[in-house]
Amino acid sequence: MNIVILGAGAIGSLFGALLSKKNNVVLIGRSIHINAIKKENLIIEGFTQFKNKIPAVHSISEIKICPDLIIITVKSYDTESALKKARNIIDKNTVILSFQNGLDNIDKIGKIAVRKQIIAGTTTHGSIFQKPGLIKHTGKGKTVIGELDGRKTGRIMKILDVFNEVGIETKFSKNILKEMWIKTIVNSSINPLTTIFQCKNGYLLENPLLENIVKKVCEESTKIANSEGIYLSIEDMYQKTREVIDDTSENYSSMFQSYKKGKKTEIESINGILIKIGKINDVDITINNILLYIVNSMVN
Ligand SMILES: NC(=O)c1ccc[n+]([C@@H]2O[C@H](COP(=O)([O-])OP(=O)(O)OC[C@H]3O[C@@H](n4cnc5c(N)ncnc54)[C@H](OP(=O)(O)O)[C@@H]3O)[C@@H](O)[C@H]2O)c1
Repeated sequence: MNIVILGAGAIGSLFGALLSKKNNVVLIGRSIHINAIKKENLIIEGFTQFKNKIPAVHSISEIKICPDLIIITVKSYDTESALKKARNIIDKNTVILSFQNGLDNIDKIGKIAVRKQIIAGTTTHGSIFQKPGLIKHTGKGKTVIGELDGRKTGRIMKILDVFNEVGIETKFSKNILKEMWIKTIVNSSINPLTTIFQCKNGYLLENPLLENIVKKVCEESTKIANSEGIYLSIEDMYQKTREVIDDTSENYSSMFQSYKKGKKTEIESINGILIKIGKINDVDITINNILLYIVNSMVN
């Protein structure tokens, strides 16, 4: 399969490296990372060991293949600008798969590409961009993908095979939008709270005050999901969040890492969208609003 990774950073480079074992993969990323890959190799350390020169470009005009699949792995706030540049390589049969966190990426992609070409996924793999050319696979996780309308189509089954063949354990979801909501609800507490309190994920359950706030955020975010017709139980979502915190207790969340690097965070696509939906549906958004306000005031 011809695959283009749009946004070769932490997760995109990891998936690109693994997929390149059996597919024609081209990475699109920033010059500094691409030059390091061209000069030396793309090196993956940690749970995946990889050292190879894979095709990598920093400009869409250098892409010579017609992609069957474009995997979008830029941060949510870069989705539209990255995809606009990639417009010319999107064929009518190209499938566009987003692994991004947050709830607004599909709509952003849909402004530029035809909605029926878009599929979505979530992954719990952990990956960190160490330095140009070097990625660390910090946590082995699960990946799910699905059509936006839930159908088990030929193209989704083909992409599942392509992922599983190269060792990215991937399952089909008949409700990928619900999976995205679940991930967003979990992230809505872990990401901002670890950023505000500048702590590892595990500390959220060690400190009783923070543990209580995690519970309150989960409750509010789940009620927002329910108001949108995504029916999830508050207790299940709280347990799920606790599980994720336990499994990643030694990790720093992606939002806290962005903050430490002085970069923009994805809070607008997580808590920001929850607030927007909550306001429309007239449900309480107080805690999400406070978290958004504090994180934004820290980074600006
Ligand atoms: N990392 C993980 O473990 C993980 C796991 C699950 C889901 N996710 C989600 O996956 C998405 C990507 O996360 P990540 O951690 O991989 O982020 P990342 O390391 O920042 O990777 C994104 C890369 O894309 C680059 N980029 C942005 N716009 C571009 C453009 N127009 N052309 C080429 N490259 C461009 C970025 O460069 P700059 O940094 O210079 O902007 C960055 O190198 C996020 O939505 C995240 O929440 C990540």
